[in-house]
Amino acid sequence: MTNKKKSPKAEKAWSGRFRAKTHRLMDAFSSSLAVDRRMYKQDIQGSIAHSKGLEQAGVLTPQETKAIIRGLEQIRAEIEKDRFPFAPTDEDIHMAIERRLTELIGPVGGKLHTGRSRNDQVALDLRLYLRDALGALVKTARQFQQALLDQARRHLDVAMPGYTHLQRAQPVLLAHHLLAYVEMTERDKGRVRDLLARMDEMPLGSGALAGTNYPVDRTYVAQLLGFAGVTQNSLDAVSDRDFVIEALAALSILIMHLSRLSEELILWSSQEFRFVELPDAFCTGSSMMPQKKNPDVPELVRGKTGRVYGHLMALLTTLKGLPLSYNRDLQEDKEALFDALDQVSASLEIVTKVMQGLSVNRETLGKAAGAGYILATELADYLTGKNVPFREAHAITGRLVRWCLDHKKDLRDLTLADLRGISTKFEKDALDVLTVEGAIERRSQIGGTARKRVEVRLKALEKVLA
Ligand code: ARG
Repeated sequence: MTNKKKSPKAEKAWSGRFRAKTHRLMDAFSSSLAVDRRMYKQDIQGSIAHSKGLEQAGVLTPQETKAIIRGLEQIRAEIEKDRFPFAPTDEDIHMAIERRLTELIGPVGGKLHTGRSRNDQVALDLRLYLRDALGALVKTARQFQQALLDQARRHLDVAMPGYTHLQRAQPVLLAHHLLAYVEMTERDKGRVRDLLARMDEMPLGSGALAGTNYPVDRTYVAQLLGFAGVTQNSLDAVSDRDFVIEALAALSILIMHLSRLSEELILWSSQEFRFVELPDAFCTGSSMMPQKKNPDVPELVRGKTGRVYGHLMALLTTLKGLPLSYNRDLQEDKEALFDALDQVSASLEIVTKVMQGLSVNRETLGKAAGAGYILATELADYLTGKNVPFREAHAITGRLVRWCLDHKKDLRDLTLADLRGISTKFEKDALDVLTVEGAIERRSQIGGTARKRVEVRLKALEKVLA
């Protein structure tokens, strides 16, 4: 923590009841300042609205309110210029700001906390912070989607093998594959919007746990802070962190999607696949093996995914045994949430760059798209068209693949005679279905990989993002 000025020796706000000072180990153990100081802006925003509420209720005079607001604004400037004198006795950002306010404007600063507890204050600050952070995250997610859409548009003519069980299954368009991640991210954003709507309630006025006895118009304060409504139960408002858990769950799902894409980038950029090349600026080399180019970004994203899940499990576990209402355990919520937010937004941002700089090896993809008996389903479907029941068609085609394997032939090398050697149901148009383009174009239902379909969806998604 920067401490450019000499640390002031302030008494603790609650020291009246105590005979002895707290042990230095206790101060260090219970302090959350290093973690929660990043909520300074939201804390000040909440305090300004609270002071206006107190003024409207006649608890503060207009002059007192003005002095408090001016003091708070000066504090904001001090923190932003890194000139705020944090004290070792500041338990958290709330105490630090309140202490400084009294230093700056005198005893009237002590009136700000009227009708408020740190319990409803922190419940408010956390909502305000999360609202801002998730708003920014949705924007970052949109940029990530845009990078995928741009690559999809650039490669609308590129086919690749589609996989199940990581075995070549059926050809698909690379654009179709990329758009799958755009769909996932669209739902990720939807989850964030859902939780933002659910947590859109202002908790101030809940006091420590029982509510407030000052005639503050809570709805007015909520309006000042841009909330749709106010919390309806003070015990609930100061003690639940379900909105933090929802955020961690949404972040976990989002980064899980990012991790799957990362796994594919790692596979695809390997010598074994050679489907893509990652941009140099986002890879590293080996200190020992000069030929290496390592896919560090997707590996780190995959690694961070475990870390983010850990935060979700941590907070679920923290909350499961807590009696109502506030317990100090809840202070641990912020480190988990902030780290998850940091890791997910950094991952989104850098994967966006990687996707923008990704070069696609059209030739390798094109070759792979037709190899490995990937067109076998086309022949089975062909036979179904000749009124052969699908199960029988599947069996015939299976025998054909077996024959090819035994004779070291690819499906595309076959002659009509080869086909008829397996089944006389094959007629001379059978060979026509053995093309990658045909296999793709026939998947033309909504959701399929036919180029026309993919183009329509691409356009629709571009419109959603615009
Ligand atoms: N730093 C505390 C937290 O994050 C603020 C609330 C403290 N309340 C209390 N009663 N000690 O939870």
